[in-house]
Amino acid sequence: MQVRTQRLLLRELEESDAAACNEYERDPEVVRWQSNDTRTLVESLEYIRKSRLTINASPRRTFDLAVVLPGEDRLIGRAGLHVTEPGIREGTLWYVLHPSCWGKGYIPEAMQALVDHGFGQLGLHRLFVDCDPANVASARVAEKLGMRREAHFLEYARIKGAWADTLIYAMLEREWKARKSI
Ligand SMILES: CC(C)(COP(=O)(O)OP(=O)(O)OC[C@H]1O[C@@H](n2cnc3c(N)ncnc32)[C@H](O)[C@@H]1OP(=O)(O)O)[C@@H](O)C(=O)NCCC(=O)NCCS
Repeated sequence: MQVRTQRLLLRELEESDAAACNEYERDPEVVRWQSNDTRTLVESLEYIRKSRLTINASPRRTFDLAVVLPGEDRLIGRAGLHVTEPGIREGTLWYVLHPSCWGKGYIPEAMQALVDHGFGQLGLHRLFVDCDPANVASARVAEKLGMRREAHFLEYARIKGAWADTLIYAMLEREWKARKSI
């Protein structure tokens, strides 16, 4: 799958992307709020290999895409959507970006394309994002996508060996449609 947005290209991850992914995946600041730890180059490659196994599933449920600056042909992050419950047409979203690119609105732009794919082509009913309340940047991305803060679960995740709260942001298909028609 390939999607062009105003400034970005979303495309499938390739094994040759391992070094570019590892540039940010080895950064403790980037994985600070995530359940996974920093990755070695080999671990970044293993992640890509595992992720690529989902591409040819039929029907496809996981879209774990590289976020690329097309002018420079530079991979700067990942944007993902996974259909968690096909029966109730529910999906979850995730995102990560190289710190040198933070604060430019790239992830809201990339994720809007995946939200549109989820509600549009995939016909989903609900999309959600979960994040640590301390991860203000991630919560802001969900808010910029027009998602509602739906829940605050106490000590719901294990992050770096400690309990962490989890915020749930969500959007329904009808809310997406209403937003599109503004
Ligand atoms: C969360 C993340 C993907 C946001 O991507 P982004 O493209 O920078 O998003 P935006 O440009 O819309 O900025 C979102 C917020 O980040 C914060 N931000 C802006 N510039 C920043 C900078 N230089 N450094 C740190 N945070 C910054 C601001 O709170 C901003 O909100 P605002 O626009 O209302 O001021 C990125 O910060 C990241 O990769 N973080 C580490 C991985 C992660 O936490 N992923 C989510 C797991 S739930």
